Amino acid sequence: RSRIFSGMQPTSDSLQLGNYLGALTQWVALQDEHDAIYCVVDLHALTVNPDPAVLRDRTRRTAAQFLAAGVDPARSILFVQSHVPEHAELAWLLSCQTGFGEAGRMTQFKDKSSKQGSEGTTVGLFTYPVLMAADILLYDTNLVPVGEDQRQHLELSRDLAQRLNQRFGPGTAVVPDPHIVKATAKIYDLQDPTSKMSKSAESPNGLIELLDDPKVVAKRIRSAVTDAEREIRFDPAAKPGISNLLTIYSALTGRPVDAIVADYDGKGYGDLKKDLAEVVVGFLAPFQERVHGYLADPASLDEVLADGADRAQALAAPTLERLYDRFGLLRRR
Ligand code: TYM
Repeated sequence: RSRIFSGMQPTSDSLQLGNYLGALTQWVALQDEHDAIYCVVDLHALTVNPDPAVLRDRTRRTAAQFLAAGVDPARSILFVQSHVPEHAELAWLLSCQTGFGEAGRMTQFKDKSSKQGSEGTTVGLFTYPVLMAADILLYDTNLVPVGEDQRQHLELSRDLAQRLNQRFGPGTAVVPDPHIVKATAKIYDLQDPTSKMSKSAESPNGLIELLDDPKVVAKRIRSAVTDAEREIRFDPAAKPGISNLLTIYSALTGRPVDAIVADYDGKGYGDLKKDLAEVVVGFLAPFQERVHGYLADPASLDEVLADGADRAQALAAPTLERLYDRFGLLRRR
């Protein structure tokens, strides 16, 4: 069985549909056949300097959404990053193996830091991908299910693992592979269907948050930007808006895109949007009910997370010990 690791940041009250289709559904699908470890990466969320009470609340909310989506703590490990201090410890070792220029080439860093200016940009934002590499290498991870936007970060994790093996000998680190499912690797903004759906988009109207009011969600789908033609077909280059709606439709119903296109032969964009709105709302209503169930009982939720942290730490501690040893740190007797 191969080892899976992935994480999501608790940077919003609700996950968005891109997180769900790009990553979370893969997490759920992979947990039967693999040893899966899923993490609420609260240390990563510190890079946006959140209000402390808000961060705490969002950490629980994010975990509740993992559970509601079907992450099963009986089959996988579900925990909070800061509960296992080995993540931050390994990040230091890896930061001493990462080039300054190499980290500076990360496009997410370049985008975010250019918006914030050099005084507004923290060192934490710069070393963010190093902490992510630590998350992954700490568990000798084979496979990392993520969306397309994480590909470059994963490439850095691979480079670091290979570098450790070269410098400190074979078997120092496992080189992780990305698991990026092409069909849903990038869900696009409903108002700007050439940009990825993201909680930091300028207008909220292009975003579907999993905990949004279903009425608002239905309205956003009905007002999604499309094109001036009338024909419903899957063509991401020429028809990004319609193609994105078809992708979402297919992912939520399990029907192939071609079959959906055939269903709408001779029908209009309005029909497609109306039906998709029903599909999305039909998915969200029971999902939200499950989330609220988990949030209504924070003590049980915290227990699940504590158990997950114990199991994660039991795997992380020996890996970190091995790496400390290989790096030549004198171990305390
Ligand atoms: P984060 O929290 O921004 O996003 C969580 C996951 O959702 C995917 N995603 C999308 N997929 C498709 N379409 C979209 N529009 C879309 N938006 C987001 C992301 O690719 C991601 O898989 N750095 C990571 C968190 C992280 C991590 C890790 C991931 C920290 N350590 C270790 C894997 C392994 C991040 O910021 O994801």
